[in-house]
Formats: sequence, C-alpha cells, structure tokens
Amino acid sequence: MEMHTGIVSPKGVWWKPASQQEKLWVVIAFVWCMVLFAMMPLWHAKGGQNPSGIRSTVDPTEFKQRTDRFIEEYGVEDDSDYPTVAPPPGSDLYLLGQKWAWVPAMRLQAGASYTLHISSLDINHGFGLYPANINFQVVPGYDYALRITPNKPGEYYIVCNEFCGIGHHSMLGKIVVAPAAAGGAL
Ligand code: CUA
Repeated sequence: MEMHTGIVSPKGVWWKPASQQEKLWVVIAFVWCMVLFAMMPLWHAKGGQNPSGIRSTVDPTEFKQRTDRFIEEYGVEDDSDYPTVAPPPGSDLYLLGQKWAWVPAMRLQAGASYTLHISSLDINHGFGLYPANINFQVVPGYDYALRITPNKPGEYYIVCNEFCGIGHHSMLGKIVVAPAAAGGAL
C-alpha cells in the first residue's frame, strides 16, 4: 500500500476541468438552493404555521387577575384538582402558565370560535397540546390572543415542553372539546 503525506501530491485528476455531468449537478444543486431560499419567505406568508392572534404586552400579575376573573365567571364543579371553566362560544379564554400548572382546565365546544389568551406568570413555558401536537412558546409579559376553533371533539392534554424547573414534568393542563350537538350538556 502506498503511503501518503501532506507533502506528496495525491494521484488524480482533480485539477482538470469538471466534466459535463459534474457541471450539470453543480447547476442543479445551485437551483435547488435558490428554491429553498425562496421557500423561506414564501412559507412565512403561505405556510399557515404563523400564530393566528394579535400579540400585545401585558403585566403578568394583571394577566393573573384577568385569569382569576375568568375562573370566577365561568367556573364549574369538577372533581379535578384544578379549577375548571365552561365558557360560552365566542368568549375570551385565559390560560395562565406558571410553575407548575396550566390553569384553568377548559370545556369547549367543537365548531365554536374563541379567542385564547395565553401568557405566563413567571418564566418561559412551552404550551404543547396533545394529541393534536400544537406547540407554542409562552413568554411572560406577552399576551398571545390566538383565534381558535376546536374542530375535533375529545380530551386534550396540555404539557409544558420548555424546561422550567423541578416541577416541569408535572406541569399539566386539560381542554375537553364537546361535540357541537351536545353543546348544552356540558
Ligand atoms: Cu413549564 Cu416546563
């Protein structure tokens, strides 16, 4: 076997002009790079992954007070540890993330539209809705007024997917979506 060092030139034809096929592949790769580059702004405008709401700043303690009023207004009896609300269609929902819970639990109706305000009382949390797999970064000081229309009845669980301390794994919440027809029987 032949030995190679950094001083001895390797054998080959790499210094000769590229073949037709190689040039063609360079062109294809360049064109594809341009396509992907164009997709970035295009996806931003057409991708449908942008938040559906209007973001505004909010004082975390004010958001907590607003959430407490929301719980007072629409609270229902429930055997869970968390306060549960059953707000009417069209209403503003307030979901507060804090160490370590998402409050309140909500009962919504399929096909009805709501404005979901999400914020954090303390530090960054990650809103993760399962099994729908909808994820959202929740930052204290900001109110994300997302316009939502639950389209599939069922039980949804909210987890936290941003590490937020010792109780991160137990930071849970719940949203129950009732079928549109059974709206009155919540
Ligand atoms: Cu909140 Cu992790």
